[in-house]
Amino acid sequence: MAAPALQIEGLHAWYGESHVLHGVDLQVNHGEVVTLLGRNGAGRTSTLRAIMGLTGSRKGSIRVDGHETVGLPTYRIAHHGIGYCPEERGIFASLSAEENLLLPPVLKGGGQGMSVDEIYAMFPNLAERRHSQGTRLSGGEQQMLAVARILRTGARLLLLDEISEGLAPVIVQALARMIVTLRAKGYTVLMVEQNFRFAAPLADRFYVMEHGRVVESFGAAELDAKMPVLGELLGV
Ligand SMILES: Nc1ncnc2c1ncn2[C@@H]1O[C@H](COP(=O)(O)OP(=O)(O)OP(=O)(O)O)[C@@H](O)[C@H]1O
Ligand SMILES: [Mg+2]
Repeated sequence: MAAPALQIEGLHAWYGESHVLHGVDLQVNHGEVVTLLGRNGAGRTSTLRAIMGLTGSRKGSIRVDGHETVGLPTYRIAHHGIGYCPEERGIFASLSAEENLLLPPVLKGGGQGMSVDEIYAMFPNLAERRHSQGTRLSGGEQQMLAVARILRTGARLLLLDEISEGLAPVIVQALARMIVTLRAKGYTVLMVEQNFRFAAPLADRFYVMEHGRVVESFGAAELDAKMPVLGELLGV
């Protein structure tokens, strides 16, 4: 059997002296959409950043397609086919939408990356806005661009941090359709979400974090039964 897309065991991470992850265990199988839930400060962003080697020091194991990555620098981790979409989106204000899209290099062996034409077919409003400056794009357009940009690199494992945050309901619905499409195309997604209503119908499995640890994990079929626990943990 093939190794999972992502297997994290006993992950600890620090920002300087501050110990923020305390032994995280989680797994994402190929083709799955997995959601990481938790209250503010639970350690969800830190988990994504630790996967990319963007925290301070890390300890434990993070295997990507069976390859250990804990000792590697960020650029080599990305070369394992991981695309990280940070909460702040990272759209360059002075560049056009298309220049932003073309900015990250295509990963070595990233021949499976989407072409610009495929991206514009999937995100028609980005095609319309291709010559607009980054600053002129709406929050929703910036978010779509931030995701589209990593699809072009050939990444097959997508780490998405709160993509629905602060966006209008109609945009959030478009993002939900995007996740469904990506899943159908065989992408693997680990997404952090505060918006439980957005995440609930999309995910195959869920993890809940608290104080830098995973405290619950369950599959979509158990979601109804888990609602009381989630109410306590998340206040949903
Ligand atoms: N750069 C940093 N330096 C020091 N501590 C940090 C840094 N970033 C986050 N932390 C701390 O790490 C802990 C986990 O934060 P993290 O950002 O991972 O939480 P989160 O679950 O993404 O929550 P949210 O996005 O709602 O803030 C928090 O206690 C936070 O204060
Ligand atoms: Mg966060």
